[in-house]
Amino acid sequence: MNDHVYPVPADWAERAKINKERYAELYRESLSNPDAFWRREAQRLDWQKPFTKVSESSFDEATFGISWFSDGQLNVSANCIDRHLAERGDQPAIIWEPDSPPEMGGGEGRIITYAQLHEAVCRLANGLKSLGIRKGDRVTIYLPMIPEAAISMLACARIGAIHSVVFGGFSPDSIANRVQDCDSRLIITADEGLRGGKVVPLKANVDEALKLLHGPTVEKVVVVTRTGAGVWMEEGRDLSYEELVAAQSPDCPADVLNAEDPLFILYTSGSTGKPKGVLHTMGGYLTWASMTHEYVFDYRPGEIFWCAADVGWVTGHSYVVYGSLANGATTLMYEGVPNFPDFSRFWQIIDKYQVQIFYAAPTALRALMREGDDWVTKTSRASLRLLGSVGEPINPEAWEWYHRVVGEGRCPIVDTWWQTETGAAMITPMPGATDLKPGSASFPMFGVEPQLVDGDGHVLEGATEGNLVLTRSWPGQMRTVWGDHRRFFETYFTTYRGKYFTGDGCRRDADGYYWITGRVDDVINVSGHRMGTAEVESALVAHAKVAEAAVVGYPHDLKGQGIYAYVTLNANDVPSEALRRDLVQWVRKEIGPIATPDVIQFAPGLPKTRSGKIMRRILRKIAENDVSSLGDTSTLADPSVVADLVANRAGAS
Ligand code: PRX
Repeated sequence: MNDHVYPVPADWAERAKINKERYAELYRESLSNPDAFWRREAQRLDWQKPFTKVSESSFDEATFGISWFSDGQLNVSANCIDRHLAERGDQPAIIWEPDSPPEMGGGEGRIITYAQLHEAVCRLANGLKSLGIRKGDRVTIYLPMIPEAAISMLACARIGAIHSVVFGGFSPDSIANRVQDCDSRLIITADEGLRGGKVVPLKANVDEALKLLHGPTVEKVVVVTRTGAGVWMEEGRDLSYEELVAAQSPDCPADVLNAEDPLFILYTSGSTGKPKGVLHTMGGYLTWASMTHEYVFDYRPGEIFWCAADVGWVTGHSYVVYGSLANGATTLMYEGVPNFPDFSRFWQIIDKYQVQIFYAAPTALRALMREGDDWVTKTSRASLRLLGSVGEPINPEAWEWYHRVVGEGRCPIVDTWWQTETGAAMITPMPGATDLKPGSASFPMFGVEPQLVDGDGHVLEGATEGNLVLTRSWPGQMRTVWGDHRRFFETYFTTYRGKYFTGDGCRRDADGYYWITGRVDDVINVSGHRMGTAEVESALVAHAKVAEAAVVGYPHDLKGQGIYAYVTLNANDVPSEALRRDLVQWVRKEIGPIATPDVIQFAPGLPKTRSGKIMRRILRKIAENDVSSLGDTSTLADPSVVADLVANRAGAS
């Protein structure tokens, strides 16, 4: 923690759409008269049929359900494209920067105007229809960060097909699970992806995944040419994206869709079981994405907005694509990574395109900070006026560096707390309204009513720390877990009856600022990627030599949290360095590189209660190297295992 407060700069207080008074006024109205507030805010979208109902939402079991603007009709793709054509048809909608800069053969990148985006989306939407895709069908998108990812999402939205974007770093197993769970009929992928100069075999991964599926689901695979590598194309199943769209009409009328029709499924990790398909719908989600994009980033027409997240995550959905395009913004899409070809890449791209607003994850900032200031200061960054952070708590040191070095002290930082489930930013500063405290996400967005509760659900008042819950629905709230509405209710609304439980711990200071302290469940946040410890455990126990595994997070300088795995081998197997390496590779193959364990400790036994429950608290303490406060271990079935675990603690950094 640090006590430094950065007041709203005078020019921001004067110019910003939301200043202190306006924030207070609108926040008050959003809670005291939500009907009026949302009726007005939803007018930011074009409705083909106006809604009369605002919210019919309840978190109580008997009346449970979430619904916004339910009798309205609209088309998300028309809201993101068509309505901007008259005024900004020739304005860039998407600026795309390839993995390698031009001098390294990466090519010049692409600038796609709103008019061109319209044509591309219409052609693909017609292409999807020609392949038999209809409203409600699921389409899996497994693409690199190329414009076709956004085009594919928007083409689905145009015809009411439900997209499920799977991050390009996921393994064939992970793709298969996600395709199977929602019975996708079609996959859009690319021959290969490029990231940090390395080739990602996307099509080959899809081929592998398809072999793992049970029963008929995927009928067609549409393959974008990214590298031009000759990839296997299965007769009758696989077809070229370019050939498909070339054969279509450049016009596709936007279907009239209901506000509560599904827009997308996005899989995310929870504390138990396999990843769940978070479902978002049309009207509420787009209202929320658009409103937060405008207010949190104080977005002004003509500005270049760069959200550095991958479209495989919710941040990419809401701020690379939907929120930005709904607001007629120019959104920058970067294919690569922050440190390739060198540590100046982000800042050079900012200069190249004169980016005004830059939004990234703390893990990337920490990695760049470590390399020294020269990589930053040798670039200009004069165009920047606002910085953002998302995905994990930002430590004050990284915040200060971002502010002082990247933003040269002139750019406010919006530290936005939210989740896949919440659709868009929930607790966040607004640059013209909020005096900033490094490391605090500060205050709730309009319509968001946070509470801190203790383990028994008692509401905690004033300066305090507890579990973060939200007491009322907001338009961008997820509507269900795909295929399992009961799981939706049980996961989020039963821990604290009648309230949405975020899974996060949080502190509120004497000034009312919220400080997210991290997950309080068995979810860990590794480099801003959300991971269920149970997922890594089940990958480990799927290995022939592993009898049991327990996975916890531990503080990691760069990643925020690292993955620490305790592994018990089968009776006849012996620990070795080779086996350790094999297990690391195994998890990478089962889930994907983002799940790579940082530490594997072979453990003859795990600390369990007499009823067989693993005491994770103890494992966390050992992983954190905080062995002096292990607490009471006398209730363990075999307290002696703890001494062994401590003595053989692996050298976690
Ligand atoms: O623990 C919180 C953390 O990321 C979790 C949500 O992860 P995901 O659904 O993948 O969405 C990430 C992008 C919105 C949260 O439960 N988190 C997200 N943003 C912040 C954060 N923790 C602290 N500060 C943030 N700004």
